[in-house]
Amino acid sequence: MGIQQRDVIVIGAGAAGLFCAAEAGKRGRRVEVLDHAKKVGRKILMSGGGRCNFTNMYASAENFLSANLHFCKSALSRYTQWDFISLVNDYGIAYHEKTLGQLFCDESAKDIVRLLLSECDKAGVSVTTRCEVVSVEKSDNGYYLSTSSGDYACESLVIATGGLSMPKLGATPFGYKVAEQFGLNVLPTRAALVPFTLHDADKQHISELSGVSVDVSAGCQDTSFKEAMLFTHRGLSGPAMLQISSYWTPGETLQINLLPENDAQAFIENARNRSPDALLATCLAQLFPKRMALTLINYLGWRNCPVKQLSHSECDAIASALNDWQVKPNGTEGYRTAEVTLGGVDTDNLSSKTMMAKDVDGLYFIGEVVDVTGWLGGYNFQWAWSSGWAAGQVV
Ligand code: FDA
Repeated sequence: MGIQQRDVIVIGAGAAGLFCAAEAGKRGRRVEVLDHAKKVGRKILMSGGGRCNFTNMYASAENFLSANLHFCKSALSRYTQWDFISLVNDYGIAYHEKTLGQLFCDESAKDIVRLLLSECDKAGVSVTTRCEVVSVEKSDNGYYLSTSSGDYACESLVIATGGLSMPKLGATPFGYKVAEQFGLNVLPTRAALVPFTLHDADKQHISELSGVSVDVSAGCQDTSFKEAMLFTHRGLSGPAMLQISSYWTPGETLQINLLPENDAQAFIENARNRSPDALLATCLAQLFPKRMALTLINYLGWRNCPVKQLSHSECDAIASALNDWQVKPNGTEGYRTAEVTLGGVDTDNLSSKTMMAKDVDGLYFIGEVVDVTGWLGGYNFQWAWSSGWAAGQVV
């Protein structure tokens, strides 16, 4: 087989890669998408519990982490959540807002993959799966790729291979390696939107609450999220914990307000006045599931006595633990279960308008491989669409 010539090659048939390929194809470019996996869009299919939280109605640059918080603004403002929602409407895909502006398919995430493949098909894009890219070299007027599906030459090369989370779904460090090969800086990567694990002493108690979910406000580093927290066998999960994991660095303590809507001090005072003979567990069971009230008492070493017998300092300690529980996680569950990867290709090396490497003509990075990471709630797919669209207009 001779060298297969294309205008554009996109490596990675995920959200960003397929969307970018379709946009480039619409401009009349001959586009090939290469992916090593058996199936395209595997993360899309897994996302949102199989219903894909495909964007967020309130998406803005404030919902993203990056060493340069301004970088994502251009792409997000040129292809917005409303543009993608309009495309979803064109395909007649039914969706609903679950909470906090998060839009999910009514039926299945497969609808989003079908949309992307249909857009690619209409734009004449060819997609090759089970393709290992062995090497990438710069040629006089573009790039030369050696792959398990033969050799390719192209003018523009788009890297859309995502981050490191969930290796079982095909994640690899390929994109970071290509960036380094061409002299771009890659910022340290870390698992994010990931559950916390606890030290054994904490875990012994907390694991008894596995499956219990409560609304909390969880914070660290001047950032906090008010959402649900889920106790697990290994530690703490649920939206509040996943969100704050992106801001947490190893060794830090988390501040968890178990009663974000209540002043715990006032609640205890009130309980002591109204029902002085009630046991502490009975009072706390007005706020939490009974199992949780008892576990907290054991775990934090409180006396389960009639509340009138609690000393002022005991009441202060209980109130402070309820409104400001300090937890030092052991770590996180890591890339195995993380939804995204923080860090990646340094945005200082990329054009925010086109996603092209500033010093390497024709080489583009889009989606999660770039150091732009969204909150939980559809923001990461919006970044995939917006960055893919930006590159798709120029590749
Ligand atoms: P993505 O990871 O989608 O695609 C990368 C592609 O590159 C893959 O097809 C992979 O096979 C391919 N590839 C990797 N290495 C390669 C190599 N060496 N050679 C060839 N191909 C290679 N976000 C959100 O907004 N809403 C949600 O509901 C969810 N839910 C969710 C659930 C789960 C379980 C996970 C793991 C993640 C989410 N996310 C999410 C995050 C979201 O899935 C993620 O941010 C986007 O898929 C990133 O899109 P990309 O196209 O950049 O990478």
